Amino acid sequence: MNHPSDAALLGASPWWRADAGTCLVIQGGHRLIGTYGVSGAKNAVLPLMVSALLTPHMVTLHNVPASLDVAVLSNLLQRLGVGLSWSSGRGGLSLTLCADRLHPRQIDRSLVARMRASVLLLGALLARCGEACLPMPGGDAIGLRGIDFHVAGLRAMGATVEVQGGLIHATAPNGLRGAEIVLPGPSVGATENLLLAAVLATGTTVIRNAAREPEVTDLADCLSAMGAAIRGTGSDVLQVEGGRTLGGAVHTVMPDRIEMGTIACAAAVTDGVVTMRGVRSELLGAAGPILAAAGVALEAVENGVIARRSPAGLTGVDIQTRPYPGFATDLQAPAMAMLATAAGASAITETIFEQRFRHVDELRKMGAAIRVHGRTAWVRGVDRLTGARVLATDVRAAAALVLAGLGADGETVLDGLDHLDRGYDGMAAKLAACGAVIRRTPVA
Ligand code: UD1
Repeated sequence: MNHPSDAALLGASPWWRADAGTCLVIQGGHRLIGTYGVSGAKNAVLPLMVSALLTPHMVTLHNVPASLDVAVLSNLLQRLGVGLSWSSGRGGLSLTLCADRLHPRQIDRSLVARMRASVLLLGALLARCGEACLPMPGGDAIGLRGIDFHVAGLRAMGATVEVQGGLIHATAPNGLRGAEIVLPGPSVGATENLLLAAVLATGTTVIRNAAREPEVTDLADCLSAMGAAIRGTGSDVLQVEGGRTLGGAVHTVMPDRIEMGTIACAAAVTDGVVTMRGVRSELLGAAGPILAAAGVALEAVENGVIARRSPAGLTGVDIQTRPYPGFATDLQAPAMAMLATAAGASAITETIFEQRFRHVDELRKMGAAIRVHGRTAWVRGVDRLTGARVLATDVRAAAALVLAGLGADGETVLDGLDHLDRGYDGMAAKLAACGAVIRRTPVA
């Protein structure tokens, strides 16, 4: 893949320190004890940043995670003419975006190739400018991840969309119009894309079988603060009265429920006690009770959650990933890393993506007993994992391997840190603050 230079990334995000050529070295077996700062949600911040394209007024986001995906999207938006200004304070990073002078043009292929969420630019640019031209998006190698739902929805709103030679070209010279759209599946990205388009379309749009993920609700809340009229937020039917002129807004990005769940598993694996502020365990949906059954105790405290291993220890559970409020596919890999050393067996079935078991081979290198049959991974818990040199192949696999390394005997070396950096803001440093022995070092 042709990566943009570090300088290109720095131009848009002065806080980003490109750290190419490093790996993570973890000495396992240390209990995590302390307070871990869960960042703003990766999956919420990206659509929120794109929402700024819908208005010439300023949109300010607080609690922005300093992740590589945010840096890449910042760069993409800057190239489209969006003014960005960063500040940092007690609430973490804040970003103000101002799209008063957009000059949409074909977007840099190498940047889009790094991030599937760039497809969200389609709905927003089409709605605001009447045209969008975008290379096919990239992102994690975890399945087909088509964009057919996105394209069909935009066509129903009156857009002409052609996909040719790796380019998506969409036009709506007379603007988009409201439509009744039934999504074939509750796609998070398609729901967000169509929501972004619908708020500027004329008339009413109804999105049925919409994704109910909290990140969709976070986007709808921000759009509502900008003046959009959206009903049904949090349900699977969203109704948008479009055509309103949108103003600016100030919005705080919701906490990252996937990071929260991952760290809760890490606390349990290391037999530690970790406090996470500003989060609620309800955000985990069905994953909360399932992790509890596996032995991850989550105690609600004022303004946060304390995670630890339950006295009975870790035991195998069965998991099927499902759209929210079901067990999040993004927690599948971290949960598997934890269950690798639970007593008994677990059956983990991935129903959302067809290639999301690439972490299995890496966990096996560490001694995990896992067999994959079709969409189900059968995990037989072993006493301990052993440190090994492993490779992250996607964002969530990276977090899972960190978790495995924290609980393993000896030293784990994790390569492919681009993936960890895409989705997490300073995870290694935050873990170190809780007692983990973990450091980045140049690749040997
Ligand atoms: C988002 C999340 C990702 C998470 C996923 C499922 C972001 C930035 N990423 O990804 O972390 O794992 O939701 O919770 O928010 N599909 C189609 N055609 C389409 C769209 C989707 O077939 O046009 C399929 C996909 O291949 C997949 C399923 O629908 O099998 C769900 O995908 P979707 O919810 O769209 O995932 P993303 O929005 O890409």
